[in-house]
Amino acid sequence: MAETAQLIIDGNTYEVPIITGSEGEKALDISKLRAQTGHITLDIGYKNTGSTQSAITFLDGEKGILRYRGYPIEQLAEQSEFLEVAYLLIYGALPAKKEYEEFKNAVTIHTLVHEDTQKIFDGFPSNSHPMGVLSSLVSSLTAFYPRSIDPGRTPQEVNRTIVRLLAKIPTIAAWAYKGEMGHPVNYPNNELDYCSNFLHMLFSLPTEKYEVDPVVADALNKLLILHADHEQNCSTSTVRIVGSSHTSLYTAVAAGINALWGPLHGGANQAVIEMLEAIRNDGGDIQKYVKKAQDKDDPFRLMGFGHRVYKNFDPRAKIIKKAADDVLAKLGVDDPCLDIAKELEEIALRDQYFVDRNLYPNVDFYSGIIYRAMGIPTEMFTVMFALGRLPGWIAQWKEMRENQEPIGRPRQVYIGETERDYVSIDKR
Ligand code: SDX
Repeated sequence: MAETAQLIIDGNTYEVPIITGSEGEKALDISKLRAQTGHITLDIGYKNTGSTQSAITFLDGEKGILRYRGYPIEQLAEQSEFLEVAYLLIYGALPAKKEYEEFKNAVTIHTLVHEDTQKIFDGFPSNSHPMGVLSSLVSSLTAFYPRSIDPGRTPQEVNRTIVRLLAKIPTIAAWAYKGEMGHPVNYPNNELDYCSNFLHMLFSLPTEKYEVDPVVADALNKLLILHADHEQNCSTSTVRIVGSSHTSLYTAVAAGINALWGPLHGGANQAVIEMLEAIRNDGGDIQKYVKKAQDKDDPFRLMGFGHRVYKNFDPRAKIIKKAADDVLAKLGVDDPCLDIAKELEEIALRDQYFVDRNLYPNVDFYSGIIYRAMGIPTEMFTVMFALGRLPGWIAQWKEMRENQEPIGRPRQVYIGETERDYVSIDKR
């Protein structure tokens, strides 16, 4: 017997189906609500609204659980490689050895971008934020690969489109960084693995050979895995709704990059470091900033703290915090911002305001500390987040298209003027 809820409106009783997810989550299926009752629901910010049913990522905000296709994030971060996690998210299963070698090879042979890409780069002012460059260049892939514009052609076309994006985004991201630094770009070196190749393109210089430090490559691999997907967050929901109009994967992901850029979302990792530096430069008075964050008249928020879903520790923050200690120790980096971050966390987690609101460090709180220790500049932090999140965006877009979901088109409650007649300007 299907489980239902009862809705009573104007004395009429309506049966609303209840659906249950594989982890026991419950949802009211209101897909027929308006047709049956003439009512819609209102949920600004979609805090209580599911937009889809997905088999990709499960998270439990109360218990601090995060799994990709059923595999705990803790195990993947410790034992897997980023491209293997990308394969898992996109295709639904861990690849067999041969499958994984073929996938890695397919990505490797597509790392080069069309040489005309340089002309687009040259058009950007040198002080362009790399996130704006990244979203523009990802969109421009439709110009170089016009068959990607109709993404539903054949499974082979879809996979080629996916592999090209996974392969080229590190090149584009590294070139955006080089553009900002005023350095010549580096071409991909297909002898290197995914993370090492990105580091090579980021840091090699004509004047000195860059040797990839395995500590840095390992830290990057872990960070990219931890950012790879996070169910229906702001940028992923953007990719799904933009993709639902049957635009290309590239333009849908470019939209996701722009959504991620915001300081309330992926842009928070840059904002955290700027906040920690501001606290340090202001004499390190942490209590002052913890109080500022609670003042409703003060726009200051504790960046890297709080989360729409996690009302417990963000499991990724736990892993990143430990990785920060390990990486800085191995690299011999002493960053006062790490000490400030730890003290800030300790004070905030004892403060009633944060306790009452279940505000904990999120994925962005410590990640910038590691990026900085790796030599990555602050403005590139959200680009690093986008690099990690790309397989998740791709997997979610692919699932939405394969499930033939309808174009996303929310309703509204109109609260504007009721009908009135036009008045000519000389009579107003
Ligand atoms: C990411 O959704 C995802 O999964 C995102 C992400 C992913 O992997 O894709 O996890 C990545 O975006 C992480 C979040 C990064 N953003 C930040 O760190 C920015 C700082 N955080 C806040 O802006 C806020 O916590 C949000 C945006 C993350 C969540 O905001 P919500 O869910 O809309 O919660 P809210 O703003 O309604 O806050 C509830 C209360 C409010 O106080 P009251 O009105 O109840 O008195 O908590 C307060 C807020 O003022 N609050 C904070 C706070 N975050 C929330 N107060 C001070 N500092 C903060 N950081």
